[in-house]
Amino acid sequence: MAERIAIIDTPAHTGSEVTVSGWVDTKRDHGKISFVDLRDRSAKVQVVLVPASLDEESKELMKAIRPEWVIELRGLVKARPEKLVNKDLPTGTIEMEAYSIKVLNEAITPVIPLDQEKSEINEESRLQYRYLDLRRESMLANLQARHKTIKFIRDFLDARGFWEVETPYMTKSTPEGARDFVIPSRKQPGTFYALPQSPQQYKQLLMTSGVEKYFQVARCFRDEDTRKDRQPEFTQLDLEMSFVEEEDVMSLNEQMLIELVQTYFPEKKIQQIPFPRISYAEAMEKYGSDRPDLREDKDDSNLLAFCWVVDFPQFEKTEEGTWTFSHNPFSAPKPEYLQDLMNENNIGEILAAQYDIALNGFEIGGGSIRNHQVAPLKKVLEIIGFTEESAEEAFGHMFAAFESGTPPHGGIAWGLDRLVAILQAEDNIREVMAFPKTGDGRDPMMVSPSAISTDQLMELGIKVQPIDKK
Ligand code: AMO
Repeated sequence: MAERIAIIDTPAHTGSEVTVSGWVDTKRDHGKISFVDLRDRSAKVQVVLVPASLDEESKELMKAIRPEWVIELRGLVKARPEKLVNKDLPTGTIEMEAYSIKVLNEAITPVIPLDQEKSEINEESRLQYRYLDLRRESMLANLQARHKTIKFIRDFLDARGFWEVETPYMTKSTPEGARDFVIPSRKQPGTFYALPQSPQQYKQLLMTSGVEKYFQVARCFRDEDTRKDRQPEFTQLDLEMSFVEEEDVMSLNEQMLIELVQTYFPEKKIQQIPFPRISYAEAMEKYGSDRPDLREDKDDSNLLAFCWVVDFPQFEKTEEGTWTFSHNPFSAPKPEYLQDLMNENNIGEILAAQYDIALNGFEIGGGSIRNHQVAPLKKVLEIIGFTEESAEEAFGHMFAAFESGTPPHGGIAWGLDRLVAILQAEDNIREVMAFPKTGDGRDPMMVSPSAISTDQLMELGIKVQPIDKK
């Protein structure tokens, strides 16, 4: 194949012959002449097809090609006359005159219209034909923004001594507050792995191992109702550090967010640096929310109002009147409340060394300093209703680890999908995920979840029974 250049680079080759390839975006026939807008992921370029300039074979192809066909074009990049320059297009100073056309693949008429606003097409169709839906410029831009965000995070943390460590997806139930997705085991009949709701326990165990600075771009799985900011499968930037206090984790993350925005989203304005810090009590009292939207101008789509919410109560009352944890059972109390915790004094007043980060009214992250010693961890579990035996059964491995020399540690996890959605001014996290699920947790393209064969069920020792959905 001739050396292909990206369409965005065509203006730099004005006066030369180049090869471009991509999809036919639109085609307009004007008598003998045709105009094609050719699209690749970088840009579109206007191409003029004049029979006199084309080789014999291409003259025939010129008539045949249709929108969404994949073609290669060789031709001359010509400057447009001044009055035809289109300032709105990155290639608007030039057009190409084609010399030859090669068809790389034909295409049926797209089953969903790609020239319509995505809001005008129903969700089911967009997800069923996601590979087409993603061809939209705005969707490819979202994928690119996500890629850049992840790349920035990896470079930023690598430069500060963090290691990315992968933790298992086939694991055991973790108490993050949602239902688990489970995987049946064939080799251990009647038992199940759980998909992780977060890598929480593994990352703490890596602190026991001496990793000191861990991060992971980790997929998390939670069987909860889907909303515009919630998917059953989502991505966290998960991190954990040893020998730190709240301030260390918060300042590192604040710096990372500021530099990310300044580097890759320069059109955005951060309302306040350093990020304001509000106590949970004040947030609830003033804004009635623990993720307040502090934007001074809510119509300004480029305004980012980050804020930290701190001083969360360690425990919350359940509907039944018992205590539960407010973040997860591993959070430590603030040092000045440790004695109260150990003595079970004023349980409702105990504040945890826990911090959430909110952006424009969404919770984009949360974390805490952990109980790295067994006694306060056991006390937390006791207060929320674990017996000694049930605590041992659920967390015996954590107790054993903490007894074998675990340094003080803490961390945080960002909801990466939520962050990128806000940065891309999308109001649903689906728009920044390549292959998300519908509101009721299906993938209409792959048709999942789906039934499995009787043989597979037998092998797993599973019998499916109808359930009463009421
Ligand atoms: P938490 O449960 O608060 O903390 O999750 C961290 C962040 O993940 C995002 N998030 C979600 N995003 C999309 N879909 C979902 N269903 C979903 N659920 C949560 C949110 C949230 O702030 N292990 C702890 C972190 C830690 O303590 O270090 C944890 O998972 O933006």
